[in-house]
Amino acid sequence: MAQSFNILFLSSEVVPFAKTGGLADVSFALPQAIKELGHEIRVMMPKYGFISERKFGIHEIIRLKEMDIPVGDKLQKGSAKASFIVGQKTKVQVYFLESEVYYNRNGLYVDPKTKKDYPDNDERFIFFCKGVIETLRKLGWRPDVIHCNDWQTALVPVYLKTTYKDDPLLKGIKTILTIHNIGYQGVFPKESFLKSGLPDEIFPQIQHNGSFNFLKAGILYADFITTVSPTYAKEIIADDELGAGLSDVLRKRKRDIFGILNGVDYSVWSPETDKFIPVPYGVQTIESKYENKKALLKHFGLEYNENIPVVAQISRLAEQKGFDLIEEIIDKMMELDLQYIVLGTGEPRYEEMLERIKKKYPKKVGIHIGFSEELAHLIEAGADIFLMPSRYEPCGLNQMYSLRYGTVPVVRKTGGLADTVEEFNPKTGRGTGFLFEKYNGQELLKALKKALNFYKNKKVWLKLMKNGMAKDFSWSVSARKYVELYEKLVSVQKKARTVKVK
Ligand code: ADP
Ligand code: GLC
Repeated sequence: MAQSFNILFLSSEVVPFAKTGGLADVSFALPQAIKELGHEIRVMMPKYGFISERKFGIHEIIRLKEMDIPVGDKLQKGSAKASFIVGQKTKVQVYFLESEVYYNRNGLYVDPKTKKDYPDNDERFIFFCKGVIETLRKLGWRPDVIHCNDWQTALVPVYLKTTYKDDPLLKGIKTILTIHNIGYQGVFPKESFLKSGLPDEIFPQIQHNGSFNFLKAGILYADFITTVSPTYAKEIIADDELGAGLSDVLRKRKRDIFGILNGVDYSVWSPETDKFIPVPYGVQTIESKYENKKALLKHFGLEYNENIPVVAQISRLAEQKGFDLIEEIIDKMMELDLQYIVLGTGEPRYEEMLERIKKKYPKKVGIHIGFSEELAHLIEAGADIFLMPSRYEPCGLNQMYSLRYGTVPVVRKTGGLADTVEEFNPKTGRGTGFLFEKYNGQELLKALKKALNFYKNKKVWLKLMKNGMAKDFSWSVSARKYVELYEKLVSVQKKARTVKVK
C-alpha cells in the first residue's frame, strides 16, 4: 500500500445505532472497507436519545467531557463519547456528539409524534458541524480528510475554509462531501444563517432563493463532491429537475464531482448466512428460498401458492419512491396473479393509501407500517419480485440486496437502479431484472407484467435468479475509489506546499 490516511467520516445515521435509510448502511460498511485497505478512519455522529450507552458500550472521553459550542447567541453544552462499529474483521471507532437540548429525543430529523421535521433542525446540525470541529481541536487529532455525508454535515467544509481557516491544527484539512440524496438540502430561513456564526459576507454566495441552504454551501466549499452512483452524478448535473434546483451550482464544480456506486455488505445481506431468516439458502439450495416465502406469507396471514409470485417493496414512504404510481395502477395490479407485500414508514398520505389497499384487497396484500430490520430480511428472502418504481434514486440498496437473494428486481431506469439492474434478455439469457423508463403507471405495469410472464416459465426464472445471485457489488471496489480521491486531494496539498517552500 502506497500511503495511509487519517480520515474522519461524518454521518447523521449509522447502523446499528440509528437508521432511517441507506445512508446508515453505507456509514456502517464503507468505513470498515476503507479501514480494511489500511487506513485510519473514525466515524462521528449525533448521540440521539434512543442510543443505549450500555448496549453499545459507549464511554466517556475525559478530554471531550465539556464543550461549549456557540449556536446563535447561546452557548450550548456538548460532550463527545466513544464506542466502536463492530464488523466482521474490523473495529471502527465512533464518536458520538451528545447534547441534552438537541439530541435527547426519539427521532432523527422528524418528530415521531407530529410526523413533522423538528423546528430546530438548523440549530441541531449547526451544533453538530461545530461540535465536530471542536472535538478535533480538543483531541488534537488532525485527519488528512474529513468525509462529509449529506446536508447535516455539509457546513464542516464551510467552517474549515472561513471561521477556522487560520487554525494551526485544522489548516489544510481536505474535505469530501458525498451527496446521498439531493432532494434533501437542509433549507432554512435567512435568520438561521445568523445562528451559524459564519461570516456575513459569504451569505450572498451560499444562499439559494434567499434561504440558507446547507447542501449548496457544502457543494461550494468541499474540495471534492461525490454522489452514490455514476448515473445519478450525470443526472443531477445535467437535469435541472433531478438536480432539485442545484444543477447550476453543480455545473460550476463539474470537474470535482465523482459518481461512486454504493456497495453491499454481504456479511449482513447474504441468504447463506442471514440470521434473520428461517431457512438459509444459496445458489445450490435455491429451493429453500420457498420455505422463506412460506414464512413470509404466514407472517402476513396470506395463503401460499407456489405459482403465485410475491411482489414486494421495502421503502421509506416518500415521494421519491414512486408510490403515486402504485396508487395509479393498484386496481389493475390486483387483477394480476400476484400477492403484494410492503414494509414501509414515512409520509402519512402513503401510509394511509397502503392501509386502504390492504382493506380493499385483504387476501392478496400484506402491509406493515413501521420499521423492522428483521422483516426486511425476511421479505428479501421470501419475495419473488422486488419493486422499486422510484421517481429518482441516487443509488438504492434494496435492488442490490434483492439480486443476492434471488428476488428479481423490477425498477425504474434511473440513477443507481440503472447502474445495477440489467434488463433480462431471454434470447441471450443475460440480464438480472426488468426496467421501465418513463415515470408513469402504465410503463410500470408493463414491466411488471413482463416479469410475471417469465415467472411462469420455471427454467427461465431460475436462470434469471441465478444471474442476479452471481452479481458482486462488494464494498471493497468502491472503497478503493474513495481512497483514490483521498490520495488525489492529499497529494495536491503536498504539491502546493512544496511549491510554497521553494
Ligand atoms: P433510501 O436510503 O433512499 O431509503 P436505499 O435503498 O438506499 O434507500 O436504502 C434503504 C435501506 O433502508 C435498506 O437497508 C432498507 O432495507 C431499509 N429500510 C427502508 N425502509 C425500511 C423499513 N420500513 N423497515 C426496515 N428497513 C427499511
Ligand atoms: C439515499 C438515497 C439512496 C441511497 C442511499 C445511500 O437515501 O435515496 O438511493 O442508496 O442514500 O447512499
